[in-house]
Amino acid sequence: MYTKEVMEHFKNPKNMGDMENPDATSRVGNPACGDMMETYIKVGEKDGEKYIEDIKFKTFGCAAAIATSSVTTELAMGKTLEEAENIEEEDIARELGGLPKIKMHCSNLSANGLHEAIYRYKKEEGMDISEELKKKHTIAQKTLEKTEEVRKKHGLDED
Ligand code: FES
Repeated sequence: MYTKEVMEHFKNPKNMGDMENPDATSRVGNPACGDMMETYIKVGEKDGEKYIEDIKFKTFGCAAAIATSSVTTELAMGKTLEEAENIEEEDIARELGGLPKIKMHCSNLSANGLHEAIYRYKKEEGMDISEELKKKHTIAQKTLEKTEEVRKKHGLDED
């Protein structure tokens, strides 16, 4: 079953909704369930380091996807881009007091959304991109394509 932390974030998600003039956006999907996630970031700069000044998400996912996205935004807020790049699904699940095994893939979706938004920002700005982040981007692109195929096959609307 879900922990009380999951239920709390599900009922009162933080940083959910649109963002005006984001510096970067991402769209990722999960082919296992056909769910999608959009992530928006604003990037600030302090002491010569870029950091996540603001982050919001929208998801067409399940309760666990909403809770993991909410907690992901809390974990990423104020972090440097490099720190945020290293937030993984295990960190997200830990913050929520654990997730049922069958729902671990949902935390993947929010971590992927965050990583992909940072990738897009760095690419746009001509910043160095680590091999690890490039790898995450390639996987995110492939899984998005597969998710779109799944959604099409099952006639799922995105909006
Ligand atoms: Fe799809 Fe959770 S079942 S994101």
